[in-house]
Amino acid sequence: MRLEGRRALVTGGASGIGAAIARRLAAEAAEVVIADLNADGAREVAAEIGAEAAALDVADAAAAASVVASQGPFEILVNNAGTDDFAFFTEMTPERWRRLLAINLEGVFACTHAVLPAMQEAGYGRIVSIASEAGRVGSKGSAVYSAAKGGVIAFMKTIARENARYGITANSVAPGPIDTPLLNAAKALGEIGERIIETMRQTTQMRRLGTPEEVAAAVAFLASDDASYVTGETLGVSGGLGMV
Ligand SMILES: NC(=O)c1ccc[n+]([C@@H]2O[C@H](COP(=O)([O-])OP(=O)(O)OC[C@H]3O[C@@H](n4cnc5c(N)ncnc54)[C@H](O)[C@@H]3O)[C@@H](O)[C@H]2O)c1
Repeated sequence: MRLEGRRALVTGGASGIGAAIARRLAAEAAEVVIADLNADGAREVAAEIGAEAAALDVADAAAAASVVASQGPFEILVNNAGTDDFAFFTEMTPERWRRLLAINLEGVFACTHAVLPAMQEAGYGRIVSIASEAGRVGSKGSAVYSAAKGGVIAFMKTIARENARYGITANSVAPGPIDTPLLNAAKALGEIGERIIETMRQTTQMRRLGTPEEVAAAVAFLASDDASYVTGETLGVSGGLGMV
């Protein structure tokens, strides 16, 4: 019940890691709003846990502001919505990389920008962004995604610096390979995709994929008052993949 009385916005909560985060925050008594491009999926998860749902493309900053205006204010924001478009960089096109940056990086800007004024006013806030170990060590087939996630990590550190005086913490979680539809989409590359996933698995010290629930547990910690003196950090949940 660490999150009793807290209202939390979880983006991308219709699937995978985001759905596990929504379930975990609700289990810890937060009032959860799931905002996802997949409105039906958001409604399904929300119905299961007694949460609310909203249709949102995080790449649309005006839409993010409108969801926050109508369903906020929020004490907790989890920037989880994200996607990849696996290809070696030589196969990438500007159209494809702009969409990846719009969702994975600008989407984090948009939602953070929308929630911060009310958090500053209240003198309290917890912002957690789901980055990736790819943002720290790179990942074959994911050059633009990795750049966006590295950007998320640097962005969150700056938000942490600018907002500590308002009682707001800002941290990133960097998952390693987690068994979700997003990771399994690499299989669309065929045998090379299977090999990329297998290499990731082998690069973890634990020699296994992680589960969405393992990421959700780290998010719940950072969103709670147990993490009251933790800000600007990047917490790897990656079986040791990203340790330096
Ligand atoms: N699965 C992994 O191995 C892994 C590793 C590191 C980081 N991550 C990150 O974790 C987060 C969740 O990924 P996942 O693996 O659960 O993927 P997923 O594909 O299972 O879920 C992603 C969710 O985000 C939603 N979404 C996508 N684009 C959106 C947009 N523009 N606006 C709103 N919602 C949108 C999708 O509809 C979906 O519900 C992402 O940020 C991803 O980059 C995943």
